[in-house]
Amino acid sequence: MKIVILNGSPRPNGNTAKMTEAFVTAAGEAGHNVVRFDVCRMDVRGCMACEYCHGEGEGTCVQNDDMHAIYAELADVDMLVLAAPIYYHGISGQLKCVIDRFYSALYPKAPESLRYVSMFLSSGDKDQYTGARFSFDGDFLGYLGLEDKGFFTSAGEVTEETLDEIREMARTL
Ligand SMILES: Cc1cc2nc3c(=O)[nH]c(=O)nc-3n(C[C@H](O)[C@H](O)[C@H](O)COP(=O)(O)O)c2cc1C
Repeated sequence: MKIVILNGSPRPNGNTAKMTEAFVTAAGEAGHNVVRFDVCRMDVRGCMACEYCHGEGEGTCVQNDDMHAIYAELADVDMLVLAAPIYYHGISGQLKCVIDRFYSALYPKAPESLRYVSMFLSSGDKDQYTGARFSFDGDFLGYLGLEDKGFFTSAGEVTEETLDEIREMARTL
């Protein structure tokens, strides 16, 4: 299947990057078409709530930035993977901007193909995931009705055990 993974960490060798890489490699080996975006290296601005996309724009966002590269891949995507560090008890702002911009592509209706979602989070301390979990449950499982393929967390340095759990999820999709 086609999978879009959005890495919302700016640190190329950080914990989120390691979780992302474990998934990309294992899912690729399992024969999936994985498209990775390192969103911190992209120019993606926040949603302006102008509603152009839900009127004259007919689903197209009025802003002209790198989000259009992501929109192009979302059109026939089967699975979304949202990966981010926890910043101030929520996902990083860079990934939040991308998710807010889903407004033109996934609201009020997501592509028919989109069925699965997973989230990878990295934090400094334990039990920092309530905000991200609320969004995952409410927006992705609840509103979009996607099937949960796993909510993976790492407090501190990501362990081999967590990376293996991610690899196992990718292999068994
Ligand atoms: C701006 C900022 C805010 C952070 N806020 C939190 C936080 O609220 N709770 C926490 O446990 N860790 C927090 N951290 C620590 C990171 O979540 C942690 O270092 C994480 O492993 C970074 O992910 P990365 O290795 O993928 O970059 C924060 C780090 C930064 C830079």
